[in-house]
Parts: sequence; C-alpha cells; structure tokens
Amino acid sequence: MKRRHFLTIGGAAAGSAVLFPVTRGILADAEEPVPHPHGHSHLSSQQGASLSTAGVRVDRFAATMPLLPVLRPVSSTVDTDVYRQDIKPADVEIMPGLSTPALTYGGSFVGPTIRATSGRRVLITYRNTTTDPVNVHLHGGHVAAQHDGYPMDVIEPGGTRTYEYLNQQPGATLWYHDHGHHLEATHVYHGLHGFYVIDDPREQSLRLPDGQYDVPIMLRDALFESTGELFGDGDPAERTTFLANGKPVPHFQVAARKYRFRLLNAANERIFRLGLDGADLVQISTDGGLLPAPLHRSELVLSSGERADVVVDFARYPVGTQLVLADTTGGPVLRFDVVRTAADTSRVPDRLRPLPALPPATVTREVTLGFGADSTGYPQGQVNGRPFDPNRVDFQVRHGTTEIWHVVNNDPIDHNFHLHMTQFRVLDRGGDPALPQDAGRKDTIIVPAGRSVRVQATFAGFLGKYVYHCHFLEHSSLGMMAQLEIVP
Ligand code: C2O
Ligand code: CU
Ligand code: CU
Repeated sequence: MKRRHFLTIGGAAAGSAVLFPVTRGILADAEEPVPHPHGHSHLSSQQGASLSTAGVRVDRFAATMPLLPVLRPVSSTVDTDVYRQDIKPADVEIMPGLSTPALTYGGSFVGPTIRATSGRRVLITYRNTTTDPVNVHLHGGHVAAQHDGYPMDVIEPGGTRTYEYLNQQPGATLWYHDHGHHLEATHVYHGLHGFYVIDDPREQSLRLPDGQYDVPIMLRDALFESTGELFGDGDPAERTTFLANGKPVPHFQVAARKYRFRLLNAANERIFRLGLDGADLVQISTDGGLLPAPLHRSELVLSSGERADVVVDFARYPVGTQLVLADTTGGPVLRFDVVRTAADTSRVPDRLRPLPALPPATVTREVTLGFGADSTGYPQGQVNGRPFDPNRVDFQVRHGTTEIWHVVNNDPIDHNFHLHMTQFRVLDRGGDPALPQDAGRKDTIIVPAGRSVRVQATFAGFLGKYVYHCHFLEHSSLGMMAQLEIVP
C-alpha cells in the first residue's frame, strides 16, 4: 500500500489529528510512484500570458477548443441504435507538441459524444484492449443494475461487454466514465470520460439553440510532466492546468447569436466557480434535464460530476469581443471570441417544462460522508463510518418508494454526493433553503465542509444494487462509497 504525501489536518474534536489523503491510488500491489521530478510553483494564472505546470508552458488561449466527435451507430433499427467502441490506450496531443499517454474511448482523450434520443434504446459494445479491468457507467442514466457499471462488474482485459440504455428519461446532459472499483480515479483522470446527451423530441418546440449551436464542453483539470505525461499521484489541488474539451485553456470562435453550452465538470476532484466576464449565463438545465424556468446567473458552481446547460447570447456583443470563462480561484478556462454575425431564430422561453413535486417520502435516512482510517492508520473513505464493501448492502429500498436522504459532511474538507439510478430533488442545503437551481432534478451535489444537504428521490423502474458515493474520485476510490439494493 502506498503511504505518502499525507496532509495532516487538525481534527476539530479533542485536538486529534485526522489524516486526509492527497494521493490518488490505493492498490495493494501498486509500485511506489515515481516522485514528481519537477517543482511546480503555484503560478497564479491571473498573471502573465502563459501558464506553466511542471515545466510545460502553454500560451493561454492559443489552442482551439475542438468540437467533440459524435459516435455514429454501426446499425439502427426502428427503436434501437447500436454502437461499438474500443476502450484503448492511445497517445494523444493535449499540450502542444507533446504526446500524452492516455486511456481512451475510441482513441480520443475526450471520448466521442453519444447522442441518444429519449425513448430510443441504445446498445453499446465495448472491447477492453487495455491491461486493466474497466467498466462503463452512464452517469445520470436511469439504467438497469446489470448495465450500470457496478464497481465490481468489470470488463477484463481482452473482454467485451454490451450495455443497454433504454433512455426512458427526459432530455439531459449525461456522461459516461469508468467505474471499476479502486481504479476509477486513475482511469477517469487518464481519459476515460465522454458525453452522453439525451435529446428529447418533446423539447423541440422550445426552439432552444441546437445543431452547431449546441456545444458540449467538458471541463477538467490536469497536471502534466514536461514529457507530456499526466501526473495523477499528487494533491488534486496541484492540477492547475484547466482543459476544455481536452485542450489547455483554449479559445473558441462563436457567432454573435445564442449558443447552448452543456457544461460538465469532469475533474476528479474540483469545484469550478465559473463566471463569463459578467455576461448573463442563462441556466436552462441541471444534471437531470431542463429546469422549470430559465435562471439568470452570473456565477455557476459545479463540483465533480455536475452538469449545467447554459444559453449565452453573444448577439449582445460586437464582433471582435472576447469573453473569458474563468474560475474564481484558478483563473481562465476558456475564451469565447465573437468573430461573425449569424441569423438566430432560437429562443429561451420563460417556461421550459413542468416539474411537479415528487410523491411524499415514507423513509428518511442519514448518510455521513467522511474520512477515517483503516486498522493500519491509512486514510479510508467512509460512508456512515465504513468503507465500501460489495458484500454488504447498506440500505434496502423497496421498489417504488420515495425517500429523503440527509447527507452530512462533518469533515473539514468538501465532499460531494452522487446517487446512481435516479434523479433527486434538493430540499434544503444544510438548513439553508434550496437554491433557485434546485428546482431541477439532480444526481450530484456539493456537500461543503461541515455542511449537509437533504434530497428526495423515488426509486422505481429497476431492482438490484446501485452505489452512491462522493464523486471526488480520489475519495470514492478510497472507499467513500456505499450501496443500496432495490427490492420488490
Ligand atoms: Cu459519475 Cu458513480 O459516478
Ligand atoms: Cu453515476
Ligand atoms: Cu469526498
């Protein structure tokens, strides 16, 4: 077991010290990681025209943010689209002129976007050509347990596996990523992540921006060696290079009209607090799809795994304007350059969809996320005082039941909470009233240090075991995960 880089934080209680891991992995047979060869200073990315990590210098906004490839079905029937893709190692170019060994879906560092349609089935066959066990989880998907990417249910090296997604849920911005137990953090960090967008024909009459003006943008962070390799063993706070669709702090040319941006925080462990030079970010959706009504935001907060779709109207700005999407502490992420005019018949209606309250809850549960230590003193992620154990069912949930979960974080560091198989409603945030965006459905929510949230969800549609966990993947990899079983 690795024993390195512990950050000691004085515990609040009785002056005891609590260890929080700042390492990524916890594999019994892992080699001692190579020490990071370069000192990297915490250059404030607010200063200077370039940023530097581990000796790699990048000119800010020099790269172009690519549009992500869209996966084409290999065949389609009247109600099903069939896809195939390999999970494979590939050398990719992220930092200009450097080759980065990555783990990929189909060879691209950000996997191809799968565009599904509400009510139409998707079958995807994955072949694992890596040397690790992997699996695929559809984050935010209402999926049968055997297709959910349960942490122990993996595709061995050389194996193949077909996942079935019924897409019986409204339009939403979902994503897919690795979920093999203990390996999810390193696998996602190295590139096993992609968008899965459910388009909903019922939303077409809203006339939101679509086609080329509907742009998924995956935001994450990374730390690069001067060789181009991704360094993942250190403190996640040191991953100070921001990537948008797999490019470091790029620019993106836009027309002076409305765009729908589907923003995803795919960083293993980060809270993005995003502003766009004061521009109006019109939030139209949360993790589980459209809000009842649009919200005008100047700042968006997304913790790991969360999504928000926003509409930005660049028609308010003359051609030549540049607007920088920036994180309040980490600095610029992406610059939008308004380069031409364009016709625009899209709109953002005042009402998007009705979202009636969930049925009343009949069960209430407590879920405490936190770090403890195993018997040797090594940091251990825990839910209700215990690390994930696939042989233990933590909560048995009767099919069709609506429950309220009180999710508590007593640690002096932030966590977040992600629930598989269903979308929840946020009732309150630690005694504070729910936020305006909590009118939408969510599957992932920040639980700040010393705070709690209450969420309500209905568990229906499938039976079986599903996990819930902190989506800071270094935390879930260390055991901060538990499981429920839906029973008849
Ligand atoms: Cu994004 Cu359990 O996963
Ligand atoms: Cu998930
Ligand atoms: Cu956590």
